Amino acid sequence: MTALRTPICDLLNIDYPVFQAGMGWVARADLVAAVSAAGGLGCIGAGSTTDADELRAEIRGVRAQTDQPFAVDILFATVASKVDEAVRYTDKVMAMVDVVFEERVPVLISGLGSPRDAVAGARERGIKVMSVVGAVRHAEKAVADGVDAVIASGSDGGGHVGSIGTAALIPAVVDAVDVPVLAGGGLADGRGLLAALSFGAQGVWMGTRFIATQEARAHENYKQKIAETDTAGTVVTRAHSGKTCRLIRNAFTDSWAGREAEIEPYPLQGMHVGHPASQRGRIEGDVENGVLPAGQSSGLIGGVPKAGEVVQTIMAEADAVLSKLTAA
Ligand SMILES: Cc1cc2nc3c(=O)[nH]c(=O)nc-3n(C[C@H](O)[C@H](O)[C@H](O)COP(=O)(O)O)c2cc1C
Repeated sequence: MTALRTPICDLLNIDYPVFQAGMGWVARADLVAAVSAAGGLGCIGAGSTTDADELRAEIRGVRAQTDQPFAVDILFATVASKVDEAVRYTDKVMAMVDVVFEERVPVLISGLGSPRDAVAGARERGIKVMSVVGAVRHAEKAVADGVDAVIASGSDGGGHVGSIGTAALIPAVVDAVDVPVLAGGGLADGRGLLAALSFGAQGVWMGTRFIATQEARAHENYKQKIAETDTAGTVVTRAHSGKTCRLIRNAFTDSWAGREAEIEPYPLQGMHVGHPASQRGRIEGDVENGVLPAGQSSGLIGGVPKAGEVVQTIMAEADAVLSKLTAA
């Protein structure tokens, strides 16, 4: 039994404080089920899910493989009404929230935007709500919106990032809010888990580490590329979506260097450039001309194991480091 069980493990009824990040395209039923079955918390990335029916199928796909808790991450595209300040979600987001409610998914995560108007419905159904944030003021806003926990993900991480590095962001968010905090961005092993706990977080939120696993929905070349990439091998660019995003540096990112003025605002850049390039990278495996989101954590990853092994290894490493630190 690990000494590293934290209060959020009791809140969510999981064994270990290891959370697999919700990742559009990549985090589907097989990965989520493997992480949850191993004692962590898997999370479906609904960002790229085309419709509510597909999300429902993924949820049922998880349940066919494990009875352990899991999460769904939705990109809450919101527009605040000037009239009553209610949060307005797109029809697609509302339909996906309804599926999460109907299916009684244990945890709902907002990857982008405020989940505020979904909080009451979630609470009625016993569903916990968490928000991914990249800055202290976003964490404060999420808590004011009623979330049960915040996930502070630093700019070291893969995918869309803010400008604050993980080592400063996590303790600053822990100091600013009175709900549990998870730490993400550039963390990929047991040392990262222990560091997160030292910063005052209650667990780790890892994305890139779980892309390079056998169950992730990604082309084999993408997984291998992460395993080969070192800590200097990624770059932050707006070329993918119009928003700052950390990608593996390749011919795609190089082709946009120095052409920032040509990048269209979000979401147009994604529609015209990012989506086809994502298809090339993540699905077709063209690691030079495609988009490959990944964190600086790539430099800590050397292989493509099973996701359950990753969870077990993180816990064993963290326990070993803790034993060394506390040895007389
Ligand atoms: C391929 C990829 C897709 C991502 N998609 C999402 C998403 O849909 N929703 C979200 O909240 N975060 C998304 N993220 C960000 C992760 O939630 C997380 O913050 C990040 O991966 C943590 O850093 P790490 O990659 O170094 O572990 C994505 C990250 C990657 C690498």
